[in-house]
Amino acid sequence: MGYKYRMLKIHGRDFISFDDLIDIDSFLGLRDQFYAFFAENSDRCRSFWNSAGVPLGNDWPYLQDTPVAYTLWHNILASGDAAEIARIKSFTDREKLIRYLQLKWGAFSPYKLLHFSESSNSDVAIPGELKTWVYSLPFAKIELVSFFFTDHYCPLKYHRDFNYFPVEHGDRPEIPDSQHDFIWLRWDKRKSFCLFDIADDGTVNEMIPVEGYSAAFNHYNWHGSTDILDRATLSMKVEGAFTDEFKKIAYGL
Ligand SMILES: [Fe+2]
Repeated sequence: MGYKYRMLKIHGRDFISFDDLIDIDSFLGLRDQFYAFFAENSDRCRSFWNSAGVPLGNDWPYLQDTPVAYTLWHNILASGDAAEIARIKSFTDREKLIRYLQLKWGAFSPYKLLHFSESSNSDVAIPGELKTWVYSLPFAKIELVSFFFTDHYCPLKYHRDFNYFPVEHGDRPEIPDSQHDFIWLRWDKRKSFCLFDIADDGTVNEMIPVEGYSAAFNHYNWHGSTDILDRATLSMKVEGAFTDEFKKIAYGL
C-alpha cells in the first residue's frame, strides 16, 4: 500500500534531545515540588477540548472508538438530532459539557492543562526555586509554561499543534516552514511520547518514540501516544524564543 510520507522533522531530525544541554538533574530533583505546585493549582486546569488537527467527521478507527471531545461536539451539532443538540447546548460550562460528552458519547479528554503566561494564571506565584529553574533555561523570552496532567490508564492519543478550532476559526491545513522554540519535559520516562506518520485514512504508518527527559520536535507533526500507563503523569512545556547562541547549538545551525 502506497502512502504519502509526511513525517515532519525539526532541523533534519526526528526530535532533538536537550538532556545534555540543560540541567536535567536539577529538573528531576525538583520533581516533587513541581508535582505539589501542580496539585495546588489543579483547580485552575482545563480539560483538553480542541481537535488540534484531527479532521472533523473522520472515520479513523482509533478515533471512532473514543472521539476527541471537540470533534464529537461539532459532529453532534451537525447531526440534526434536535433533542441531543438542545441538551448539549444547555451546558454553559465547558468542563461540565465535556463530562457529559464523555459519559454519553465516549468522548475522549486526554489530559488536563495548566497554562502560565502574562494573560493566563498570571496571578499564581510559581515557587521561587521552580521559577528560577524555568528561567535558567536558554530562552531569550519565555511566552508560555504549560503543565500536562494525564490520569491513570489514559493514553494521550495524538494531535498536531495547529488548527485548534477549525470550525470557529476556519480550517487551515497549511503548515508553516518554521515553528517557535520550545522544550518539552517529563519527569517520568514511562510517560510515553511519540511522533507519528499518519495516513489520510488514520492508518499509523510509523511511530518514533521520543527518548530522554527533554525534547523538541516539529509540533506540526502528529505527536502523542497510544500507550496506557497504570499511573498518573505530568509533563511540562516551556515555549518562547531561544537565545541566538542556544539556537545554534540546539538546531546545529
Ligand atoms: Fe501538542
